[in-house]
Amino acid sequence: MTRTINLRLDINGAPHALAVDPRVTLLDALREHLALTGTKKGCDHGQCGACTVHIDGRRVLACLTLAAQAEGRQVTTIEGLAAADGTLHPVQAAFLEHDAFQCGYCTPGQIMSAVACIREGHTGSDSEIREYMSGNLCRCGAHNSIVAAVREAAETAR
Ligand code: FES
Repeated sequence: MTRTINLRLDINGAPHALAVDPRVTLLDALREHLALTGTKKGCDHGQCGACTVHIDGRRVLACLTLAAQAEGRQVTTIEGLAAADGTLHPVQAAFLEHDAFQCGYCTPGQIMSAVACIREGHTGSDSEIREYMSGNLCRCGAHNSIVAAVREAAETAR
């Protein structure tokens, strides 16, 4: 027997009502139920970081988070990062400036993680950036450019 639960999720500042199986992950709720496909599914096992979003400003892996766990909290996805007028978030702009991607599949997760990494203050050196961005894998090998983008965005934010 399947059953559904009714959820109200605050995503990128807007309320969303949805009825889902209680086992639905936040990642599947975003992608399959709300058409917010900027958040990517890589491994679906908490290993790649492609699904990184923020809950109450802290980075989480949406594939390891139940949608129900996000109720009553503020969820931010890559779609919610740019300003309303389309102006890119400084981290998005830095990724463009440094060509910090190749295929782009990991990029939303990298950027969401980078925003949190900067906010957490883990950008004191390239090695610290690498350590605190290590949960986000890039199979194209753009890590050097990603570190450069995070470094520049962190310097801009200071
Ligand atoms: Fe969530 Fe890979 S899809 S960590």
